[in-house]
Amino acid sequence: TRRIAVSGTASGIGQALARLLREQGDEVIGVDLRDAEVNADLATPEGRAHAVASVLELSGGVLDGVVACAGVSGPTPLTVRVNFFGVTALLDGLRPALAAAERPRAAVVGSIAGIQPADDNVVEACLDDDERTALALSDAAVERGEGRRLYPSSKTALARWLRRVSITPEWAGNGIPLNAIAPGVVLTPMSAPLFEDEAMRQVMDKAVPMPLNGYASAEVIAEALRWLVAPANSHMTGQVIYVDGGAETVLRGPVY
Ligand code: NAI
Repeated sequence: TRRIAVSGTASGIGQALARLLREQGDEVIGVDLRDAEVNADLATPEGRAHAVASVLELSGGVLDGVVACAGVSGPTPLTVRVNFFGVTALLDGLRPALAAAERPRAAVVGSIAGIQPADDNVVEACLDDDERTALALSDAAVERGEGRRLYPSSKTALARWLRRVSITPEWAGNGIPLNAIAPGVVLTPMSAPLFEDEAMRQVMDKAVPMPLNGYASAEVIAEALRWLVAPANSHMTGQVIYVDGGAETVLRGPVY
């Protein structure tokens, strides 16, 4: 039995992934605000420390996989706290348990928003692991009326962090692939408000065009994450894989 820690298991993509993994016989240690094996708030340093300590205890210090799905999408500093610092702290904290496993794998959930306009200063502060500054800059962005840049900023920073750390001795050197799935629009409770009025939906369809099969279900994203943390993925690392109905290709164009 493989033992895999998954954050965000109470809803959406994390919930779908936990179901798929359990169906194939894996043991899942879920982490979420509630309704999980480990109830913890990944927005705060204390909550992250509690999450890491509890998962380490439940797993006996050995983990075959870690997948960070928990996230929020509001135009507020909370989004930076959860989507960047909550994810990186969980992965860093659990890395020793991954290193202790035979074929460890790790994955995070990015977003097509990671290629949309971000606040470069927030991104830099995230990459400096300076949460105080990142949050002060996030507050300032909200005051300027640019809170909508915080979600893209959190996902841009996460993608860059992934590229930096995946190839280091700590990750690659310990045989731990670390990759991201970046979805387009996925039908989950997070995206539900976007469908509440027609004008908002039109703006979204323009921002995230999905010529291949339209909006995705949570299961489709979970299937891709499942492969990233399967033993079969022995040689892919540092990659952000767009499972987005073609949105990234439309938005960035045909030149690779
Ligand atoms: P969701 O809202 O259905 O599920 C997110 C889960 O994360 C919830 O169970 C929530 O309680 C948990 N969570 C939020 N804040 C937390 C905190 N402080 N501590 C612990 N757990 C916390 O959302 P969904 O759609 O499943 O999102 C999962 C990931 O996918 C997120 O990282 C999101 O940014 C990403 N994503 C979602 C897209 C969509 O269209 N739904 C598109 C692109 C990326």
